Amino acid sequence: MSKQPQIMILGTGRAVPEKVLSNADLEKIVDTTDDWIISRTGIKMRHVAEPGTPLSTFATAAARNALNNAGVTAEEIDLILVGTVTGDMKFPATACLVQDQISAINAVAFDISAACSGFLYALQVAEGLMATAGYKRALIIGGEVLTSMVNWQDRDTCVLFGDGAGAVVLGPATGNRGLLQGYMKSDGKFSNLLYNPGCGSLNPPTVENVAAQLHTIRMEGQEVFRNAVVCMCSALDQVMTAAGFSVDDLDLLIPHQANLRIIEAVGKRFKVPAEKVFVNVDRYGNTSAASIPIALDEARRSGRVGDGSLVAMVTFGAGFTWAAALIRL
Ligand SMILES: CC(C)(COP(=O)(O)OP(=O)(O)OC[C@H]1O[C@@H](n2cnc3c(N)ncnc32)[C@H](O)[C@@H]1OP(=O)(O)O)[C@@H](O)C(=O)NCCC(=O)NCCS
Repeated sequence: MSKQPQIMILGTGRAVPEKVLSNADLEKIVDTTDDWIISRTGIKMRHVAEPGTPLSTFATAAARNALNNAGVTAEEIDLILVGTVTGDMKFPATACLVQDQISAINAVAFDISAACSGFLYALQVAEGLMATAGYKRALIIGGEVLTSMVNWQDRDTCVLFGDGAGAVVLGPATGNRGLLQGYMKSDGKFSNLLYNPGCGSLNPPTVENVAAQLHTIRMEGQEVFRNAVVCMCSALDQVMTAAGFSVDDLDLLIPHQANLRIIEAVGKRFKVPAEKVFVNVDRYGNTSAASIPIALDEARRSGRVGDGSLVAMVTFGAGFTWAAALIRL
């Protein structure tokens, strides 16, 4: 059976750029069609940041929304984690920039790099730190400005991604509410199937490297697709089995919003009825680490889930990394 929860969600928030790029807009940029994008991915539009608008803008706005929603002040926050691979700068951590912008003067702040799994990794790192190091109120953010590393000439990738941030405020669990079970896994042997070769110490951003587009996303789409389904199913199975719940007990499954076909394959494999599978990939595209906290916030604020709901979240990303969490809201 599930362990006694240590932490619970006190509030959620999200923020996305105002600007929207439709599939029709993309038809003017690359050789693609609305039909192709919808049939292969389910994506109809995505929010994109204006060039030069950094992640901290959206991460801070999402954090403020989550703090308001939780009724917690920034001074009460003692831990800030940001899951991202598109922070404002290589350093300092975007978590430190958010800390400064919200004046969370009592917090320790750092980023977690796990690509699309960044938010669920951060959630579980926070659980560990809160259980062992005495942190009482944590702000966990998943956010990306992935369009800053998109090659707009590469139709294989540029149609897939969007920008934004989602946040949750965590506190000590009460009653039977909270994080019931978590699971994280990675396998670096697949690091060459989804990666950004530039900007790091391997290929610093020299004029030549930037001209060769090394700072943009590389992906073997079909291999990523296949592994995503297998790994997400495995992670979901791990948390459901360990916690002693069946899919019938679930109020909502929130899968990483990368591709509608991946979402449907995971739902089908687990026999979760479609109405219990959250989908917003049509409106946001793949926002990587932001995808699950944005979805969770939408699900809570729309009343689709509420206090006491049993929610499973599952994700997969570059690394490869994958993770799941079962939570009683
Ligand atoms: C990227 C993805 C949508 C491609 O779908 P697919 O069905 O595998 O398509 P393929 O890669 O086989 O490409 C099929 C054809 O469409 C073409 N194509 C690729 N992108 C296109 C686009 N945007 N518009 C039109 N045609 C496109 C390809 O060039 C190929 O043409 P060809 O048959 O003449 O060579 C799919 O593989 C996917 O979603 N993978 C996972 C991506 C992901 O989720 N990444 C993040 C994980 S966190």
